[in-house]
Amino acid sequence: MNNFMNSRLKNLVLITIASAVLWGCGSGEKTVSLTAAQEKQVAERIAPAGHVSMAGQVAVASAGGSASARDGGDIYATNCVACHSSGVAGAPKFGDVDAWAARLEKGLETVYTNAINGIRGMPMRGTCMDCSDDEVKAAVDHILDNSK
Ligand code: HEC
Repeated sequence: MNNFMNSRLKNLVLITIASAVLWGCGSGEKTVSLTAAQEKQVAERIAPAGHVSMAGQVAVASAGGSASARDGGDIYATNCVACHSSGVAGAPKFGDVDAWAARLEKGLETVYTNAINGIRGMPMRGTCMDCSDDEVKAAVDHILDNSK
């Protein structure tokens, strides 16, 4: 009885080992034939949750990066150029030394404040509603540096 069981067990173990070796060879070949790119695709397919959260992280990172990376010239080109390049509604023109000298007679701080709060035809923050005070000031500096 014990002997019989032992030999049955041995056979089972041998068969298991043999099929494991055969299966191992087969799958080993398949693994080798996968390129690195294919392996990456498989990894992406079996990890959809990780992929989604990575996309979110990238979006957050790039939004933060662009917000902190823009300087006065960027803000001017995006928000101010439409009025201040052509003088829409009496806006002092970019590069007009006399017009800006006249504005500066009331003091730089007042000019900053008027740009931040708006004055007559000048909209609050020059329409850059997500600009900080310092960013509006940087855009004003950009105009002034190029208008003297
Ligand atoms: C919709 C048109 C418009 C846009 C956009 C605009 N401005 Fe103006 N801005 C004006 C006008 C008009 C005036 C003149 C207002 C007045 O004194 O009657 C003016 C005046 C100013 C002044 C002078 C303020 C003072 O004290 O005399 C500054 C500085 C200024 N703008 C900065 C900016 C900046 C910086 C931006 C972009 C962030 C910007 N503006 C965007 C129309 C605009």
